[in-house]
Amino acid sequence: MYNSTQDTLIIGKKVIYLPTCHSTNDIAAEIVHAGLFEEGTVVITDNQVKGRGQRGTAWNANAGENLTLSVVLTPGFLPIQEQFLISQITALAIRGYLGSYVPDTRVKWPNDIYMNNRKSCGVLIENSLQGSRFATSIVGIGVNINQSVFENEYATSLARETGQTFVLADEFHKLLKSLDAWYVRLRSGSQNDVIRREYLRYLYGYQQDVKFLYNGNITSGSVTDVTKLGKLRVRLANEPEEMDFGLKEIEWVRE
Ligand code: BTN
Repeated sequence: MYNSTQDTLIIGKKVIYLPTCHSTNDIAAEIVHAGLFEEGTVVITDNQVKGRGQRGTAWNANAGENLTLSVVLTPGFLPIQEQFLISQITALAIRGYLGSYVPDTRVKWPNDIYMNNRKSCGVLIENSLQGSRFATSIVGIGVNINQSVFENEYATSLARETGQTFVLADEFHKLLKSLDAWYVRLRSGSQNDVIRREYLRYLYGYQQDVKFLYNGNITSGSVTDVTKLGKLRVRLANEPEEMDFGLKEIEWVRE
């Protein structure tokens, strides 16, 4: 069971808790479609049976051990060319929350969160537009909290990295507070450059030598920037100039 929170400005004033559901992003989309929502509404479940990940993948999380939730935002103040800022504040909010427990918590472009070099959280953001502005943005977040066994050897959880067990409702509120604070900064309109700078500060591979899979070859390089449109700017060894990549155009290679 999860309650609404009073100590945020926008996010979590209304919380819809479902013991089981297929995908919180899909439930959030249904609520949006029906027009029955206020900004900041959160849909959360203990048992997501058909969780969706990026690029058509599945997101699996053991029932009752993790946080699987979606937040409905209406960032109509943001031009669509600036939409990557929503990814950036989401990543920064989760990073800040998890980083308070595990110092080596970084963002892997575009918005995966890694603790001690293992993935602990995934984000799936789905936007709907009205003309050149946002109507809604559904921010789906899966954070591994108490799960200790994973099929994927490169996945981890807060419990695994700290050796502690957590009360999910408490972690839910901490996460919402962090999201709310970053969303309020975004809404102020005056912090966009700060947000971009902070994102680079915690970005895996930024000004570091890392490996990429590009054009079927493993190549070393380093991230030099992330463009306003959210493309990853990389200087690859053996390439004369920096190059910008979208989601499916380059992959990280684990070292
Ligand atoms: C990824 O890393 O591929 C993104 C995973 C996103 C998972 C979350 S869990 C809550 C929300 N509902 C979904 O169906 N997906 C997101």
